[in-house]
Amino acid sequence: MPGLIERYRDRLPFAPDDPVVSLQEGSTPLVPAPQLGARVGADVWLKIEGANPTGSFKDGGMTCAVSDAVRNGAEAVLCASTGNTAASLAAYAARAGLRGAVIVPEGKIATGKLAQALMHGARVIALRGNFDVALKLVREVCERQPIALVNSVNPFRVEGQKTASFEIVDELGPGHPIDALCIPVGNAGNITAYWKGFQEVGHAPQMLGFQAAGAAPLVEGRVVEHPETIASAIRIGNPARWEEAMAAMTASHGMVRAVSDAEILDAYKYLASVEGVFCEPASASGVAGLLKYGAPEGVSRIVCVLTGHGLKDPQTALMHAGSVVPCEPDLGAVEQAVLG
Ligand code: F0G
Repeated sequence: MPGLIERYRDRLPFAPDDPVVSLQEGSTPLVPAPQLGARVGADVWLKIEGANPTGSFKDGGMTCAVSDAVRNGAEAVLCASTGNTAASLAAYAARAGLRGAVIVPEGKIATGKLAQALMHGARVIALRGNFDVALKLVREVCERQPIALVNSVNPFRVEGQKTASFEIVDELGPGHPIDALCIPVGNAGNITAYWKGFQEVGHAPQMLGFQAAGAAPLVEGRVVEHPETIASAIRIGNPARWEEAMAAMTASHGMVRAVSDAEILDAYKYLASVEGVFCEPASASGVAGLLKYGAPEGVSRIVCVLTGHGLKDPQTALMHAGSVVPCEPDLGAVEQAVLG
């Protein structure tokens, strides 16, 4: 499959001669989840966005945001990030030959994401403040300096990410629309993008957004000053696309609800050990919500968006997985260890 700008150019704001910065993102697998489906009594599918080049859905938006930055003659790109946007920015900036800088909350991003941002050569700035503070600051910097802001406040991010909805409809067939989409909500760009995409192809599944209980501003209806959750990717207290996300949930007869860290971890382990799909903790919050609240009345076909790969955050995985079995190098011991 080509990258997503090439695949969906007729529905994206790019002309045939525009520069395209791509790592062949998009076209991610839509995998049936029979065990999960049986538990909730619905036909459930997993949209594996961790299969993107840098391991998260951010690549879908970043190919568009960075291509637009190149088209505009930008020399540098900047974002605030809980980690995945930073990794994606760094890769696409490297690919485009642009300077990239990312501002992340100090000590609060998963190891894999930090490794990616550094390896791709971005300037990684560890802020003594949370994501919301970082986003406010990068917006101000980009007003003062000739630097392109590529957070999801940039409309090209939403344009790129909306194509995930096209993929779902193309994959399942336009005659078999889905009834609901379960999706984690942090800065609220992705749910905004999915809804835009569905609307453009005439579908209106219920948008079911889920936030971590310690970082649930949309659920509580107020800014959370000190958001806290094990799902570091969605540790956000003041989402930039707050109104659009609420509008999407209202218009689609969906809702936004909270899941606890314990429920997120249960879903995270369940997906890995039962469905064979390893996503990062934040990504599991949609499934946690589906398990907690059940499939809404009359909903028979559901897609859960798994936004990032499990390998992004090996530390959380190791803290919550089983332990390794030590073994002496002789046949008897090995047999015993294997048979348990
Ligand atoms: N899942 C993962 C794995 C994420 O990294 C994010 C956001 C979300 C869900 C929520 O998506 O913000 O569009 O509502 N990560 C951003 C980042 C904030 O900086 O990587 P959203």
